[in-house]
Amino acid sequence: MLQVPQEESSRVRRQPAAAPLRIGLLGLGTVGAGTWQVLERNRQHILARSGRPMQIVAVAVRDLARAARIVGSAVQLTDDPWEVANHPAIDVVVEAMGGTTLARVLVLQAINQGKHVVTTNKALLAEHGAEIFAAAEARGVIVAYEAAVAVSIPIIKALREGLVANRIEWVAGIINGTSNFILSEMQDKGIGFAAALQDAQARGFAEADPRLDVDGIDAAHKISLLAANAFGTAIPFGQVHAEGIAGLEAVDLQYAEQMGYRIKLLGVATRGGSGLEVRVHPALVPVDHMLAAVQGSMNAVMVKGDASGTTLYYGAGAGSEPTASAVIADLVDVARTADCASTQRVPCLAFQSHAMRALPVVPIAVTTSAWYLRMGSDASPQAERAILRTLLRCGLQARIHGRYTQPDRSVHHVVLTQTVPHAALQQALAQLALLPMRTGKTQAIRLERLE
Ligand code: HSE
Repeated sequence: MLQVPQEESSRVRRQPAAAPLRIGLLGLGTVGAGTWQVLERNRQHILARSGRPMQIVAVAVRDLARAARIVGSAVQLTDDPWEVANHPAIDVVVEAMGGTTLARVLVLQAINQGKHVVTTNKALLAEHGAEIFAAAEARGVIVAYEAAVAVSIPIIKALREGLVANRIEWVAGIINGTSNFILSEMQDKGIGFAAALQDAQARGFAEADPRLDVDGIDAAHKISLLAANAFGTAIPFGQVHAEGIAGLEAVDLQYAEQMGYRIKLLGVATRGGSGLEVRVHPALVPVDHMLAAVQGSMNAVMVKGDASGTTLYYGAGAGSEPTASAVIADLVDVARTADCASTQRVPCLAFQSHAMRALPVVPIAVTTSAWYLRMGSDASPQAERAILRTLLRCGLQARIHGRYTQPDRSVHHVVLTQTVPHAALQQALAQLALLPMRTGKTQAIRLERLE
């Protein structure tokens, strides 16, 4: 991968003072703590994009001592969530507490107080979205919920903005990280259902009540939000058909694999002549389909639009910081949209113009890469030895991965190198060109892992 030097070649222009977006957090569990952490770590970077500082003013939690260890003393801590919902100095409330009873009344109260709301709570929106969105519309505030569906993947934004030109035909995908993690562990490592679920819980993927994950209810919450965004319909949670993975047995995963399929828990919403189909269930997916390659806690959503064709979105489907990524994106949306100068709204190049900087682009000659090399030579045993000696002299440790005799009896030697400086590769190519037993030009193609 290209390494961009950290050093900046030009000074950043001074940031004009902008009022901070004042945030109240309801909950400091996996998601709340991740949000705090990413906001702290990427403070300057986020400011350069949003144009307004993000300031966490108050946090409501059950365990004040634990919260103090995470956020220190600069933030107001309370065990009374109403203090956050009613706080006069808060612009936006982040609801990351879960549940649908207290969360519902707190969110409605925050809206009533004229505060924007960012929530990760798909159960809350699937069940009470109609009431909450109506209240927000009446009060003129934003309710944003990117983290509620396929956490790190900006799929709500894609449906709401990027794909607006389309009549959506269907939206479908793997939208429960825990179930996908369990199926992957069972299929690839032969681990039992209970052990895989325990592991998912330990990694913070599962819901507080993991039956929501394995019974398909969490995916039903999410597919109903996707369906509403895709088709402009009321959130159809009550009518979603939901089956989970609890009834699956390891033998079915094996038999499916032998027939060329993987079993995945899918959420599907599709518009047919007679109405919508909205369902969640395990399904066999051909092993060469892109969704079959989605492993572990990763999610992927496909959307078929009449103009765009099929588009695919992939990313972490659970976990602390992947969820925080979406929460903060929503906070930046609020900062850019509400109560800010029009000049600070979505900037043309994603960063506020005063925060743009001239980062040096490194010359290709100082990059590193691994390479596929195909070298032609006569069929003599010396040829192969000479090729390997030449590569080694230039710092390329390689072994021959394939020898292919050509119709003219010359031989193609195929090699994969380790990661080497570009200059070493160039030197090797120049030296290979001088070998007397060589036939043709060496083919050199970079190997990209993009990890
Ligand atoms: N429990 C959820 C999942 C968390 O596993 O997908 C993210 O919504």
